[in-house]
Amino acid sequence: MTSDPSSPVGAQATPQRFDLVVVGSGIAGLYAALQAHEHGASVLVATKGTIDEASTRYAQGGIAAAVGSGDSPDSHLRDTIEAGAGLVDEEAARILTSEAADRIADLVRYGVNFDAADGEVALGREGAHSAPRILHAGGDSTGLEIELSLSSLARREGVTIREHTLADRVIVEDGRAVAVRLYDALRDERVTYEAGNIVLATGGAGQIYRVTTNPQVSTGDGIALAYGCGAEVMDMEFTQFHPTALRLPERPIFLISEAVRGEGALLYNAQGERFMPRYHEQAELAPRDIVARAAHCEIAEGDGDHVLLDITHRDADWLAARFPTIYRTCLDAGLDMSKDRIPVSPAAHYTMGGVRTNSRGETTVPGLFAVGEVACTGVHGANRLASNSLLETVVFAKRAVERLFEGAVSPPLEPSPDARSLPRREDCVIAPQAPQAEELRELMWSNAGIVRTRLGLAEAATLLAEWQSLMPPAHDRTSMEMRSMVVCGRLMTEAAMLREESRGAHYRSDFPETSDEWRRHLVFRQ
Ligand code: FAD
Ligand code: SIN
Repeated sequence: MTSDPSSPVGAQATPQRFDLVVVGSGIAGLYAALQAHEHGASVLVATKGTIDEASTRYAQGGIAAAVGSGDSPDSHLRDTIEAGAGLVDEEAARILTSEAADRIADLVRYGVNFDAADGEVALGREGAHSAPRILHAGGDSTGLEIELSLSSLARREGVTIREHTLADRVIVEDGRAVAVRLYDALRDERVTYEAGNIVLATGGAGQIYRVTTNPQVSTGDGIALAYGCGAEVMDMEFTQFHPTALRLPERPIFLISEAVRGEGALLYNAQGERFMPRYHEQAELAPRDIVARAAHCEIAEGDGDHVLLDITHRDADWLAARFPTIYRTCLDAGLDMSKDRIPVSPAAHYTMGGVRTNSRGETTVPGLFAVGEVACTGVHGANRLASNSLLETVVFAKRAVERLFEGAVSPPLEPSPDARSLPRREDCVIAPQAPQAEELRELMWSNAGIVRTRLGLAEAATLLAEWQSLMPPAHDRTSMEMRSMVVCGRLMTEAAMLREESRGAHYRSDFPETSDEWRRHLVFRQ
């Protein structure tokens, strides 16, 4: 190997074998790398952009943990199960909620400064939580504080980091994941690293939708890599749409945190009517799928593209202190939140499905782990409770690393007996050529978005299958990401077509009811 300019030491050659190769440098990847490093393992973190480019850095609301007086992990567990609409894995959710406080302590040890008020940790409130239990940092910059704390610690600790390096294949030999092939975008070359174990921490797939809060790196690569090497993928029909993304012409999509509603903001339609009480008893603080669908319906009934969020009962000083990033961003766009209602609309936000794992982060392929948003541990079911995602990354990354050092025993996770593979769809030819990313995003937004029908899903499924067959071999970051998005799009639309009911974030206008028959998961395996 040649010298590695992205390593902290710079001049030394990077070895070709590591105890652990971690793919991704959001909270999940960095936390797993730091934990493994503490165990004395040699760790490589490969990440496709700069180290800090990840969904994590954009997280606003915070991280949920029942640490307040009068709150309890049991209450957090009940809220998680309730929000998940019948598909939450209760054991995994119990682990999530009961190990939360210890993982928060780890983050504090790693340098994360959570906001405090009157000498106590400050706790915010978000939709479908029965108590204030959201720890935040820098007001609304929780993710940035976490990302920068972990990445600077990883550098100081000498963890080997390769930026601009994209994983494009997991190599399996004799049924075990043994190596990762990486594409170094700066040198335009491929390198293969052998690994004792591999952790996928590549985040979600929000970029597959035209309107999304997710950064450019969120193209579902880890899900496609795992599916491609024989691991199982579950719950892909469940994409969470956030109800309140800033919607202004010529402005990028920007999240207006649910914590703003937690502080009393109300939603109004184009006629000036407060509409949420008509949809749910918890009104603006109803579960996220309900608020997103309500906003979608109100927009569809009018002739605009947004509803309005109103927090004008708070003054400018208070808003600037509690939500500094949101307040500043709105001001830059000509909106003073203390006086103006904010135009917002739903946006694809979180991939509830992903690589099927057990509560130790193990996939069905020995040696391959998945942690963070890329994984499907079962804690979110059909609808994630706000701020449970940052928590999930650290709770299950901790357990995955512990598992590694126990010495893995095969088989790690039993394959699902009713897993299916993506069907061949050669019935009709409608696409003359391989797609552009914008076409794919538009297709997913209009045919596999907040409200779905069999017709729309079938059209998307056929087109995606055809696009997949037309795609030339991927040779650079753009084409590799496109390949991942097509695979994820196929998994999402096929699953959404099969699930003939409405549940949580998956809404079929042709099957609007929830059906007990469908209280089960859809699993895909190549
Ligand atoms: P990410 O942080 O997305 O990191 C993925 C990493 O993998 C990136 O470094 C990426 O570059 C890298 N990567 C991807 N593909 C490859 C590849 N092929 N090769 C190499 N590297 C690759 N959740 C909460 O709990 N609370 C919140 O307040 C909150 N707010 C949010 C606000 C926004 C705007 C967004 C987008 C999400 C929010 N979420 C929130 C969700 C939460 O931020 C994410 O689920 C969480 O950060 C995911 O962490 P992760 O480490 O799994 O993935
Ligand atoms: C938000 O701040 O509204 C996002 C919280 C989350 O996605 O959990």
